[in-house]
Amino acid sequence: MRPLKILPSILAADFSRLGDDTRAAMEAGGDLVHVDIMDGHFVPNISFGPDVMRSIRGVTDKPFDVHLMISPVDPYLEAFAKGGADIITVHAEAGPHLHRSLQTIRGLGKRAGVAINPGTPESAIEPVLDDVDLVLAMTVNPGFGGQKFIYPVLDKVRRIAAMCAGRDIDIEIDGGVTAQTAAACVTAGANYLVAGSAVFKGGQNAFAGNIAAIRKAAESARGEIA
Ligand code: DX5
Ligand code: ZN
Repeated sequence: MRPLKILPSILAADFSRLGDDTRAAMEAGGDLVHVDIMDGHFVPNISFGPDVMRSIRGVTDKPFDVHLMISPVDPYLEAFAKGGADIITVHAEAGPHLHRSLQTIRGLGKRAGVAINPGTPESAIEPVLDDVDLVLAMTVNPGFGGQKFIYPVLDKVRRIAAMCAGRDIDIEIDGGVTAQTAAACVTAGANYLVAGSAVFKGGQNAFAGNIAAIRKAAESARGEIA
């Protein structure tokens, strides 16, 4: 089994103290920082850009997992690489040149990820499996935190996990992950769990307990704890 990772999505942080909340979430047990970049075009919301990300990069040594919900994506890949990304994920739906985007990310020395929306079949990523280090399955329609988990996507996650078996690819689920949905995510084959509202709810003093609850549910479904 690939290692389990919990990724706090800082879209749910208090933006007036983004660096501080990011540091607190990582000190509270987050494994990687999940950074949601939205352009108001590919998704109906705007978050922030590479300069803001770079300004908080120094608060933790843990890796930054950058989820680009933007179109076009290619003109911005270098800026996010320079801004401190370790993994850069692009959406299969974001443009006609997915393979080129993934090659560019690896050419920048970063791990490459491909994401698909709930309505996109896994066949969209099958041709690029040699070119990715991570597959992200959205379990909400991207654009906002705090949405309801779309359970039927887990059937697709099972098929993705089968497609990726034997390859060096992590499987990430993003959207509506909580202590209640985490077990189903890992049972379907995911090992990277992104969580926004479920981590950041209740303020900094609650972060450690929030992360531990998600991790415990996932570990127990993986048979790692009783
Ligand atoms: C949604 C983003 C998610 C979001 C998850 O478009 O990609 O990363 O922040 O938030 P929750 O965990 O609250 O659904
Ligand atoms: Zn995301």
